[in-house]
Amino acid sequence: MKRLLRGGRVVDPTQGLDAVADVLIEDGRIAGVGPMRAGAGVEVVEVPAGCVVCPGFIDMHVHLREPGQEHKETIATGTAAAAAGGFTAVACMPNTEPANDCASLTEAILKAAAATAHVRVYPIGAVTKGMKGEQLAEIADLKAAGCVAVSDDGRPVPSAIIMRRALEYTLMLGLPVIDHCEEPTLKGEGTAHEGYMASVLGLRGIPAAAESIMVERDVALAEMTGGRVHIAHLSTRQALRSVRAGRERGVRVTCEVTPHHFTLTDARLADPIPYDTNLKMNPPLREAADVDALLDGLRDGTVDAIATDHAPHQPDEKFVEFDRAPFGIIGLETAVPLALDRLVRPGVIALPRLVELMSSNPARILGVAGGTLKAGSPADVTIIAPEAAFTVDLARSRSKSRNSPFDGWRLAGAVAATIVAGRTVYVNAEVDGAAVLGPAAARA
Ligand code: DOR
Ligand code: ZN
Repeated sequence: MKRLLRGGRVVDPTQGLDAVADVLIEDGRIAGVGPMRAGAGVEVVEVPAGCVVCPGFIDMHVHLREPGQEHKETIATGTAAAAAGGFTAVACMPNTEPANDCASLTEAILKAAAATAHVRVYPIGAVTKGMKGEQLAEIADLKAAGCVAVSDDGRPVPSAIIMRRALEYTLMLGLPVIDHCEEPTLKGEGTAHEGYMASVLGLRGIPAAAESIMVERDVALAEMTGGRVHIAHLSTRQALRSVRAGRERGVRVTCEVTPHHFTLTDARLADPIPYDTNLKMNPPLREAADVDALLDGLRDGTVDAIATDHAPHQPDEKFVEFDRAPFGIIGLETAVPLALDRLVRPGVIALPRLVELMSSNPARILGVAGGTLKAGSPADVTIIAPEAAFTVDLARSRSKSRNSPFDGWRLAGAVAATIVAGRTVYVNAEVDGAAVLGPAAARA
């Protein structure tokens, strides 16, 4: 099967490319980018005006909940949401039930993904057995079974010696350790960022130092061991400072931020709906100075990736007192519109940098294929429409859950289509002209 995406703006930072060009897809792989001639048997698709062709976006931090919590999400529904959000691949966190801490679980996830997933699924294995923070999991087995990283996400790796051993061990295997950095004794029973807002609302606080202390520890341990640490959902200016300083010393540390942490502050906890549990997540929404610092980090290269921390929960779990609600919000279908509207449109970053943050860097950090349109790579392509209007409508979400604070938000920037291995897995009928990007069968 050959397909030519003709005449779109193609942005691929891995080739220093930002120009109008054609993309030729052959047998699920990129055959070439540039001025291409459509030979015999090639299906030609005109990329709609205003659309941008990018290497497929990769969300390196997603909770798919299967196995064990299929009432919140399944591999099928979570990856359908990913496709609709412009992601051609997701990495799924191991806090399933049971936790993905052994090869047989990883194999079961990959088998279910092969049968039901709409996009590529890369499992992340647990750092410790049962994610209990006590004994290392069989990390080599996890890698052999297909895990691309290890993490106890949802929880930190609480002890420094376990983190040291994890970094030493994964160094031999070439995997990153992804840490959810919250020093447990400082986090305590906190539910919101420790500061003015938590005080006036009577919520127990999670201080910024809970995050920054552990990030500083991890940077020191990565420096000592030579291992590779990736900081999940970094949320504070202090932690960002540690990453920046570590990087300057040559430490192998990378980090991601979420769309909710760069668009919202804890001021939202009072307004417009006080104690809205769709604003309860871990780490919590921080203050304006933190958001400003994250924007600086996105701009100056300190932040490596945008990841959603897509964390589905059901209404009966979320519609309870703030204190009792689970942490987390969904994010797969809102990430690209939020990034286009809040980062690209106001000029915080340019499109090539967005592609780096959402595609090439996640691919590099996880060591997976994709993140590029170089000839020979998988034909995973995200086509975005930066000028198209997009209104968040949770009623139409592909996810099984609806826990998002962005319902009704009007944004500029949408996903036009998502292509995995040359096959269109999502088309946005609301983007002018995008229907041509759909599968040939659907258009006939
Ligand atoms: O808010 C969160 N929810 N943060 C996490 O780290 C875990 C996640 C979940 O699994 O619900
Ligand atoms: Zn986490």
